[in-house]
Amino acid sequence: MNKTIIVSNRLPLQVSIQNNSFNVVPSVGGLATGMKSVHAEGNGIWVGWSGIPENNLDPELSDQIQSKIRNEKCVSVPLTNEDIEEYYEGFSNRALWPLFHYFMEYTNFEQKEWEAYKRVNEKFAEVVIENLEDGDTVWVHDYQLLLLPQLIKNKKPNTTIGFFLHIPFPSYEIFRTFPWREEILTGMLGADLLGFHTYDYERHFLSSVKRIMRLEVQFNEISYHDRIIKVDSFPMGIDYDKFYNAALEHDNDSKEKSDLRKRLEEHTSDDKKLILSIDRMDYTKGIPNRIKAFEYFLDNYPEYKEKVRLVMLAVPSRSNVPQYQKLKRETDELVGRINGKFATVSWTPIWYFYRSMPFNNLIELYTCSDVALITPIRDGMNLVAKEYVATRTKGNGVLILSEMAGASKEMNEALLINPNSFEDFAVSLKHALTMPLEEQQTRIKFLQKRLKRYDVEKWADEFLKALEDTKNSKNENVTK
Ligand code: ADP
Ligand code: G6P
Repeated sequence: MNKTIIVSNRLPLQVSIQNNSFNVVPSVGGLATGMKSVHAEGNGIWVGWSGIPENNLDPELSDQIQSKIRNEKCVSVPLTNEDIEEYYEGFSNRALWPLFHYFMEYTNFEQKEWEAYKRVNEKFAEVVIENLEDGDTVWVHDYQLLLLPQLIKNKKPNTTIGFFLHIPFPSYEIFRTFPWREEILTGMLGADLLGFHTYDYERHFLSSVKRIMRLEVQFNEISYHDRIIKVDSFPMGIDYDKFYNAALEHDNDSKEKSDLRKRLEEHTSDDKKLILSIDRMDYTKGIPNRIKAFEYFLDNYPEYKEKVRLVMLAVPSRSNVPQYQKLKRETDELVGRINGKFATVSWTPIWYFYRSMPFNNLIELYTCSDVALITPIRDGMNLVAKEYVATRTKGNGVLILSEMAGASKEMNEALLINPNSFEDFAVSLKHALTMPLEEQQTRIKFLQKRLKRYDVEKWADEFLKALEDTKNSKNENVTK
C-alpha cells in the first residue's frame, strides 16, 4: 500500500537527555500540533529531527531513543551539534525566519550557514529516499527544508512531491534582497504542488518566480522545464473537535479542578475579567508591543485597574538565538516595570508564565479567559486564535486578532486590529470588555461554524487531493 511521507525539520515529539536517560514531550508550534492529527490518522511515516544532537550519543541510549521514535511512526534525521548551530539556529532562524517575517534588521546572511543549510537538506533527502517506495507521496513542510523538493526530484523524478510553507512568503521587494534567492526558488520548484496559508503569500511567491526566475506563470501554474507546477492557498485549520470536546470536559463541574484553574476562577466574575495571550516567545508575536499597549490601556481607561488581568503564556523557543535572548530580557523587564507601576496589595495586572504547559492547562487558560489578545506583528497563520474560538463552548468570549496574522483573513468576526497602534489596542479592548453577551455569541458562532467545517483534517485532505490531481494530470500528459 502506498504511503505518505511527511517531512519537517521537527518531529512531533521532542527528545531531551538527562543523566543518561531520555524524556519525550510533544513539540510546540503550529506545524507540529496541526500535522500531528493528520499523521495519527494516516498510514504514513514522519521524517524529521528529534530535537537533540545525535552524534556522540551512547549507543545503547541511542537505540532506545530510535525505538521510541519508530513506535510513533517517525524516522529521525541525525543532526550534529554543528548542524544545529549552523543550519537550524543559523540559516533557518537567523536568515530565513526574520526575512520571511519582514524583520530585515534581524537577518544575518553567512556563507558558512548557507553551506550547512544545503548539507542538512541533503541529509534529509537521503533519509527520505531510504524510506521511499514506488508510488509513495512526499509532503515536505516549511522554511527549514526549502531545497528538499528539488533534491528528491533529482534523484526520484517520478515521485509526487508536495510542499507547504507554514510562514508568510514575503513580497518580491523583500525576497529579492536574499543572496541565494534563485537557489531557494529552484529548490521549492522541485515540488508538484506548492501550498501557502493565504492568497497573498501565494501571489508574492508567484511574483518572485516570474521576476527572479523569469518563468512563465499562467494563473496559478508555473511551466518549468517539462513540468507544470501548481500553486495554491490552503489556510490551515485546527483539530476542532479535540479542542471543543476538551473544553466541554472542563465545563463538567464534577471534574477535579487543577490549582491553575482554581486560581483563574478566583479572578473572574461579572466585573473582573481575564485577558489571555499565548505565544511561543518569538519577536514576530509582538509581545513587548502588547505589554506596552496594555499599559496604554490602563493609563487611558483607569476605571479598569483592579478589574482586568493579562494572563500571558510565553513558551520558550529558540533560546540559543541572540534575538530571542534579547526578547526574553525585554519582556521580563517590561512585565516587571508595568506590574511595579500599577500593582496594589490585591492585584497584579500581568500574570506572566515563561514555560511550556501541558494540554490540560492550555485548555484551562482558554476556557477561563474572557478575551484573547492575539496580536502578532507578522504571523503565517496563528492557530492559537483558532483554538481559543473552538473552546468557547458557551459562545461567550471575544477574540482580538492582529490583521498581520494569516488567520485574520478567515476570521472577520473577531475584532481585527493593527498591532502597531496602541490606540487600536485600547479601543478594541474596551469594546471587548463591554460587548453584550448576545453579540459575543453571534460572532463566536460564525467563527466556530467555519473552523469546524474547515478543520485540519479537511485542510490536509484538500492538499493531498490537489497533489493527487497533479499526479493524474502528469500521467495523462505521458499517455497523450
Ligand atoms: P507558531 O506556529 O508560530 O508557534 P501557532 O499559534 O500557529 O504559532 O501555533 C502554536 C501552537 O503551539 C498551537 O497549536 C498551541 O496550542 C501550541 N502550544 C502553545 N503552547 C503550548 C504548550 N505549552 N504546549 C504545547 N503546545 C503549545
Ligand atoms: C513555527 C514554524 C515551525 C516550527 C515551530 C516551532 O510554527 O513554522 O516550523 O517547528 O514554529 O519552532 P522550532 O524552531 O522550535 O521548531
